Amino acid sequence: MTATPIKQKYDIADISLAAQGKQRIEWAGREMPVLRQIQDRFTQTKPFAGIRISACCHVTTETAHLAIALKNGGADALLIASNPLSTQDDVAASLVADYGIPVYAKRGEDNATYHAHVETALDHRPNIIIDDGSDVVATLVKERQAQLSDILGTTEETTTGIVRLKAMFNDGVLTFPAMNVNDADTKHFFDNRYGTGQSTLDGIIRATNILLAGKNIVVAGYGWCGKGTALRARGMGANVIVTEIDPVRAIEAVMDGFRVMPMDEAATVGDIFITVTGNKHVIRREHFASMKDGAMVCNSGHFDIEIDLKSLEEMSGEVKQVRNFTQQYFLQDGKSVIVLGEGRLVNLAAAEGHPSAVMDMSFANQALACEYLVTQKGKLEPGLHSIPTEVDQEIARLKLQAMGIAIDSLTAEQQIYINSWTAGT
Ligand code: NAD
Ligand code: ADE
Repeated sequence: MTATPIKQKYDIADISLAAQGKQRIEWAGREMPVLRQIQDRFTQTKPFAGIRISACCHVTTETAHLAIALKNGGADALLIASNPLSTQDDVAASLVADYGIPVYAKRGEDNATYHAHVETALDHRPNIIIDDGSDVVATLVKERQAQLSDILGTTEETTTGIVRLKAMFNDGVLTFPAMNVNDADTKHFFDNRYGTGQSTLDGIIRATNILLAGKNIVVAGYGWCGKGTALRARGMGANVIVTEIDPVRAIEAVMDGFRVMPMDEAATVGDIFITVTGNKHVIRREHFASMKDGAMVCNSGHFDIEIDLKSLEEMSGEVKQVRNFTQQYFLQDGKSVIVLGEGRLVNLAAAEGHPSAVMDMSFANQALACEYLVTQKGKLEPGLHSIPTEVDQEIARLKLQAMGIAIDSLTAEQQIYINSWTAGT
């Protein structure tokens, strides 16, 4: 089926920002050697000739390199934002003006515009959907059954998207292959952990300019993002408290040297609260009520549901914008609570998201997952598929090579030993 023409060629904030965007995109490229090598190969081999790709990602300098790699690989690629507050408008402008890639994303777009852009991504009649949080795929499944025959598959970037895809599969509605980019080792070990760890603190610092040393920082969730955030917060001299609902992860946090307690208790002592659970209302009415005056709350989980802002609004009188991305809620009891980044991903709202060096591996996985969907057309069962181990290993090998780091390889003797059960006694 061919694509229906989309009414508007792009929907961005300001095309005149293109020059600045191009300079920043080129700067990010310095730290993305793995994706660059893949792009060079794609430019020669054109794996996506005749393939329409709709990508729903945070529109950042790093995503720009993924979009360019796909386009150079022959794809008819279109990009929309995966979050209303993460778009870098200059990047969107440069992708349109300098690279000829249609972008539908404006920083601060309202929910109606966000959803209209999701529809635009589907109007493109994609063969492949690159999703970050699974909004495009969920809309396809709910509203666009007639388009399913176009679909080769989807690739999913984040933990929350994988959770949603698993639920779709269990409900019998995921009828095409979905590549699980998030769970590749070269993705979540680095992106979720060190990327979220660094950029979340970057977002808090840019929004507030406060000293982290000596503060009580409460990290809700000790998964991959939580581990990185707690580790980096400790590195900045904070006293880190972890909250969890999973007993194994809670023990891990304890043995990593963090204090672990329920949120009810942590709420009374925390200076800064960071949610990274992927879950709903982790900080809610009773927690706001027991917080210290001036406590700060922010979220780095995918959706803006981890902090119950509706309850905070109900508990508050005036809400004052005190700095960019920083709102002070004056509670009726006389205290105030400060919310960063409107409860959306603070690392992308108040800072620039993960550094390019980690997105290099995440987006190498995305690019190769898209190529895999093309080469394996018709051979993959519906449902979630891991990134093949060889692909994961190759990305790690290329990354190490680019970093100038050599490692050992197995000797023939070691190779035999580790594959044997008779040796060793
Ligand atoms: P994960 O599954 O590894 O970890 C989540 C942890 O939260 C788990 O240990 C779980 O037990 C815990 N948890 C769940 N409910 C909780 C609750 N009520 N209180 C305390 N802990 C709770 O997931 P992850 O990879 O760390 O991702 C977490 C979230 O961050 C997801 O929404 C993911 O999509 C998102 N994410 C954001 C970025 C970013 O750029 N900010 C990057 C990667 C992932
Ligand atoms: N997710 C987290 N950081 C990101 C970045 N820099 N670009 C795209 N997606 C991201």
